Amino acid sequence: MEELVSLCKRRGFVFQSGEVYGGLQGVYDYGPLGVELKNNLKNSWWSSMVYERDDIEGLDASILSKQELFRYSGHEETFSDPLVDCRSCKSRWREDLVKDGKCLSCGSTDLTEARAFNLMFRTPMGPVENEESFAYLRPETAQHIFTSFKNVQDSTSRQIPFGIAQIGKAFRNEINPRNFIFRLREFEQMELEYFVRPGDDEAALDYWRDQRLRWWEDQGIEPSSLEIYDVPESDLAHYSKRTLDIMYRFPHGLEELEGIANRTDFDLGSHTKNQRGLGLVSETKKNDESTMRLAVQDIEAKKWYVPYVIEPSAGVDRGVLAVLNEAYTVEELGEGKERVVLRLKSHLSPIKAAVIPLKKNKEALVGLAKEIKSSLQSMGKGRVFLENTGNIGKAYRRHDEVGTPVCITVDFGSLENGTVTLRDRDTMEQRTVAISDLNQLYLDSLK
Ligand code: GAP
Repeated sequence: MEELVSLCKRRGFVFQSGEVYGGLQGVYDYGPLGVELKNNLKNSWWSSMVYERDDIEGLDASILSKQELFRYSGHEETFSDPLVDCRSCKSRWREDLVKDGKCLSCGSTDLTEARAFNLMFRTPMGPVENEESFAYLRPETAQHIFTSFKNVQDSTSRQIPFGIAQIGKAFRNEINPRNFIFRLREFEQMELEYFVRPGDDEAALDYWRDQRLRWWEDQGIEPSSLEIYDVPESDLAHYSKRTLDIMYRFPHGLEELEGIANRTDFDLGSHTKNQRGLGLVSETKKNDESTMRLAVQDIEAKKWYVPYVIEPSAGVDRGVLAVLNEAYTVEELGEGKERVVLRLKSHLSPIKAAVIPLKKNKEALVGLAKEIKSSLQSMGKGRVFLENTGNIGKAYRRHDEVGTPVCITVDFGSLENGTVTLRDRDTMEQRTVAISDLNQLYLDSLK
């Protein structure tokens, strides 16, 4: 893990947030290369969910959430972790981290009984600050998909089965954020809510387990680094009938990368216990409860029903950590030399190609390198980088370390005979190619 953290900082993938003031715990900033990698991972997910299928729509809902939304979803009551306080040093711990009843900070055994600590962040909303006027920062993106279900369905005329996909920030006041970008207080999720008929849910859970495993493998994760964990009933979230976690061998151990839950009709059902249209408005209905109908019509049976939902929910930050960890390789080059290579799949590489003029002050070389860079950049495959440092060896090392699939070196021969040197990241093979062939060779390198 230390090597990865160091690479991330040195090369501009991930930085501690608020570092100049000592850092904000559980919060990180993505640097120039990190933002590219993260966007590439999100784009790959979005493409596989929304563009490559014909049964899923996208959504980008708000982060600020009405109190009622997380009241009737069950989060106000149940979205908590057990917290113990150390009476000696005043530190606080998640109960499951405490071993042998000893404080992890000072070793004291003078600990309080565990109490439920709600993980939701609140923020004052509006000009009056009081106990009532606050909004929640969503702790999962999913709830807004449920509350937007009717709007999406009405505006797209979708029939069951269909899904709604969303990528966005979620916030949890984790008691002990840890392991770099693994457990954060501010993070991103890629969530799909896939609505099915009751009865079709179990087969759909198996289907999405297979789809999601395949997708992670397409991101460069070795199948042997992944495992499915069938969450025991006693550990299931309040909304789940069954959950299959995709576990990944992170540097700190085997842990959850993505959860695939059978949420049944719990969520749509809890937001619509009092469905006006179904004649189901209870006499005990509270003023803040919704009466919106979040149901679909069974045309043949001429009745309404609340669909079941299968939810593959993946963490973007955990995904970034997993693909970085999987790609990070230290290669022996002989004679005591080694190189660090990030063997990222090319669709994830933050930089797709580096164009390197042999000498940084030679106008003609730099001019030609700029032309090549612009030509490749205009192909719209991602960031192409002009590496005008004048040190080829260092440039190759830097681009190996950040996972750039190819480097293109422009030298004096390029000016005379229209050729450049194309260097492959993985094999380190260098070959002389015609500039006129570069666009095609560049596309080939991204396959
Ligand atoms: N909507 C379902 C849901 O939120 P979850 O298992 O709590 O389920 C889903 O979260 C995914 O979100 C996890 O598999 C993980 O990848 C990511 N995640 C959850 N809490 C996180 C945290 N504190 N920091 C980073 N990622 C987190």
